[in-house]
Amino acid sequence: MSLEGVTAEISRGEALRRLAVLLAQGGVEEPAREAAALLRVAAALTSRDLVAAPEAPLGACAERVAEFARRRAAGEPLARIEGRRAFWRHEFTITPDVLDPRADTETLVEAALSAFAARSGQPLRVLDFGVGSGAILAALLGEWPCASGLGVDASASAAAVAAANFAALGLSDRARTLVGNWDEGLGGAFDVIVSNPPYIPSADIPGLARDVRDHDPLLALDGGGDGLDAYRALAPAFRRLLAPTGWFFLEIGAGQGDDVAALLASGGLSVKTRRRDLAGIERVLGGTCA
Ligand SMILES: C[S@@+](CC[C@H](N)C(=O)[O-])C[C@H]1O[C@@H](n2cnc3c(N)ncnc32)[C@H](O)[C@@H]1O
Repeated sequence: MSLEGVTAEISRGEALRRLAVLLAQGGVEEPAREAAALLRVAAALTSRDLVAAPEAPLGACAERVAEFARRRAAGEPLARIEGRRAFWRHEFTITPDVLDPRADTETLVEAALSAFAARSGQPLRVLDFGVGSGAILAALLGEWPCASGLGVDASASAAAVAAANFAALGLSDRARTLVGNWDEGLGGAFDVIVSNPPYIPSADIPGLARDVRDHDPLLALDGGGDGLDAYRALAPAFRRLLAPTGWFFLEIGAGQGDDVAALLASGGLSVKTRRRDLAGIERVLGGTCA
């Protein structure tokens, strides 16, 4: 018998019940919803398949379902197990080397699109500091058909994931990646600079939820003592690399807005837009050179 009775002979409906119990025992929130999502992904079923034929046997995919369940119950997010994450209008491959892109980060994409609505057909030059999986840059290039972009990351493995995602999305001719420490060695003038940098204070990392702490790369999370190290490095980079009519858009952590705005102001930048995410948390600052 495989994991807690998840075998080829049991029905899809019975599998759902057993998976929900297993996930609940593992401390997973909303175990019934998670069990259904896991079964759909691991067994390549649609919601309709589950409703229309709950009595159908699990069959040959039982081992894969059990393996996914084992990992999910141990705290690994389903997107990590699957290696895929939907963001904006696209699907991205994710590996242990990149942050699992968050829905909150779509707030940054919305802010940039809104500020550049009148210039969306122009050949905008876009720079993404800390490109990770490439989610932000790909989302923007997907909406701005004449734009081109550069994604920088300190992690060579992350930059490689971004490059593979750009290729899979047909963006290779417009999106480049570069391995580097923020703006070191970088020149040029960019119309849009975006970044979702690491912003968790170092001391808070051990207390993060296990799906974040144990599965997102530390380099993507750790913002130094007060969480603001990356903003200190990025403010002068924005000032130096923004075109005269250019804008920056920065993701921030909960409660960091005023500190980051002050830091940007002291670096000669002016915050012109502040946006909240769907949970009402201030999530994005956007602006220009002062
Ligand atoms: C929070 S993740 C954001 C990833 C992606 N942009 C997203 O929103 O899903 C931050 C990224 O910054 C990168 N990073 C950290 N320090 C860096 C540095 N000094 N220079 C360049 N990139 C850095 C990390 O490797 C990570 O990919």
